[in-house]
Amino acid sequence: MAILKIARMGHPVLRRKAEPVADPAAPQVHALIRNMIETMRDANGAGLAAPQVHVPLRVVVFHVPEEGADDKDNAAAQPLTVLINPELEPLTEETELGWEGCLSVPGLVGAVPRFTRIRYAGIAPDGSRIAREAEGFHARVVQHEFDHLDGILYPQRMTDLSLLMFQEELRHGIPEAMRGVEQTEVEAV
Ligand code: NI
Repeated sequence: MAILKIARMGHPVLRRKAEPVADPAAPQVHALIRNMIETMRDANGAGLAAPQVHVPLRVVVFHVPEEGADDKDNAAAQPLTVLINPELEPLTEETELGWEGCLSVPGLVGAVPRFTRIRYAGIAPDGSRIAREAEGFHARVVQHEFDHLDGILYPQRMTDLSLLMFQEELRHGIPEAMRGVEQTEVEAV
């Protein structure tokens, strides 16, 4: 296993659309997944998409830790999940603002509007199909990771760039616009 180098905002691999995995059972794909999990854990992230480790394939890994799951979530904490060639569908037009960080945008956090309820599906490493509905932080993480597969970073989703800031500066207080948001921890994904 290996810890992989994480691409940062501005690298072209983060702007391109990733390709579907032709053979999810291929040993190279399983090696990539193991290395992505190791890299995500090493970087203390909650999620990682293959383009973030310079591999333009449609593979994401994520988990929702207990502290990331809020009380409103029906599906709170989620175990480590690997999705190959995933699909996503919003189940509502309703969006909410929440803080996001990204391992490819180190040090910064931003308030990003995301759909509050989604359905997603994909192929697991054992070849089985995963299909879930998600709300809250779980839905947010999944939308963030899927965006990586389409060459989109979270600042491109932001509607108020005054809420893009260095995480350390949150010590001066939560900006007015975010005071009603319960989520306080910002996990990089
Ligand atoms: Ni990210």
